[in-house]
Amino acid sequence: MGAEHSLYLTKEEERILDGEHGWASQICMKILVKLGELFDATKLIPINSAHVSGVSYKTLGDASVEFLDALANAGGKAKVKATLNPQSFDMEYLRKRLGESLWLKQLNVIRHFEKMGFQQSFTCTPYYLETPRQGSHLAWAESSAVVYANSVLKAWTNREGGPSALAAAIIGKTPDHGVHKPENRRPTVLVKLETRLRSEIEFGALGIFLGKTLDNKIPAILGLKNASKEDLKQLGAALASAGMANMFHLGEKSAEPRELEKVSVEVADIRRTIENLTTSSKANPDLVFVGCPHCSLKEVREIADMLGGRKVKEGMELWVCTSRFVKEKAKEYVEKLEKNGCRVITDTCAVVTWTEKLGIKTIMTNSAKTAHYAPTLNKAEAILASLRKCLNTALEG
Ligand code: F3S
Repeated sequence: MGAEHSLYLTKEEERILDGEHGWASQICMKILVKLGELFDATKLIPINSAHVSGVSYKTLGDASVEFLDALANAGGKAKVKATLNPQSFDMEYLRKRLGESLWLKQLNVIRHFEKMGFQQSFTCTPYYLETPRQGSHLAWAESSAVVYANSVLKAWTNREGGPSALAAAIIGKTPDHGVHKPENRRPTVLVKLETRLRSEIEFGALGIFLGKTLDNKIPAILGLKNASKEDLKQLGAALASAGMANMFHLGEKSAEPRELEKVSVEVADIRRTIENLTTSSKANPDLVFVGCPHCSLKEVREIADMLGGRKVKEGMELWVCTSRFVKEKAKEYVEKLEKNGCRVITDTCAVVTWTEKLGIKTIMTNSAKTAHYAPTLNKAEAILASLRKCLNTALEG
């Protein structure tokens, strides 16, 4: 046990904390030790990967950029595979439209990460680039990816903040607390779904409803049948944006044999949540945005199939956001989509770019997470609608 902290550190970790490996490692170790103490962790554990948020200059702030600058210049280097969340630009469309001065600020942030060896992934779905192994420990900071990793992929990660994920990447470890411990992964509330969910917006609405109702309790959801991984992605992203739960379970087995608090979700709860997320009464949005969280290959293909050969209406904007990795894999569908006036945008999304500077005041989306954030982060009104309705609106106006 060290003299000034309650965490057990190995000799090597103590040396890092004492500054023997330089300032960058020392400050990162200090962040991890502080965090560990805060959550009563007894030790640090190795991680397989880190995923860092706070990459978009729009949400970052200058103090954080200064910290990144100092860390990169002091020789900070990622020790494990480390990926980055979306930034505020894509390399083509938004770069042209938002102008050089903001781009240079964003580029400065990117260069710092590059210098520290972070993969230029710029996606909130790092699990499509490489799926983490079941049971592997991670330090991920994107809340939608955290819930997906824990609940669908059965990997183990707390919801890190930008700085703690960064520190974990550089040290290659994270404090052993929260859902890194098996006893903290068990469900704490039983949710009985009394209705059948029929579209991705209903899965998202369930997530928002549960996030608001349960806060950080871990639900075991009963009655959810035939959910695709993409549906669960919507559910998890929404759950994490409205509450603090880091995971959910599906099915009766996950909750046995304990007596748990019970919550029922009726069709009226889902309907009311969708209505509340729709803050605009307009039928015509300035932007139709799908791809929150970033689209999978399957979703890009589905969108291309649904659009068929039809063209986006003149004056309408349809953004499909995904990662560079998926865009490359989906080439044939992307070509079709772009030929028909859809913008397949990588590296960013409507929420973390400056939509207000593009004059966008109303956003139609099939993502409950985007609808939840648009009024505050984009100063825009939201319309939550199914993918089919989103695409029809982009085609017909
Ligand atoms: Fe991803 Fe942007 Fe949504 S970062 S989860 S697409 S708000």
